[in-house]
Amino acid sequence: ITIHFIAADGSEQTVPGKPGQSLMQAAEKARHPGIAADCGGSLTCATCHVKVAPEWASRLPEASNDEMAMLEFTASPREATSRLSCQIELTAELDGLVVHLPTAQY
Ligand code: FES
Repeated sequence: ITIHFIAADGSEQTVPGKPGQSLMQAAEKARHPGIAADCGGSLTCATCHVKVAPEWASRLPEASNDEMAMLEFTASPREATSRLSCQIELTAELDGLVVHLPTAQY
């Protein structure tokens, strides 16, 4: 599947992903510079922040309470569709997913 990452400056990078991977893992594998993911996906760093495009936001399972709590610690202000990419599991239905990157992860 293909995921579109849109950087804060508007530039777009397309990253391949596999069902079962997290969105963060797909970004890491592609060495995407916009995702830091310091904690490796254990939901303790909030440096894997993405803002899901509105048209996709409702198609994702809702964030857990733990993810909601960690979203308070993102470096860039949290927005309505903010998520932590390590908590988004890729599925075939998410082919074409569009996420925006925050200006900073620190
Ligand atoms: Fe640390 Fe997602 S990688 S919270």
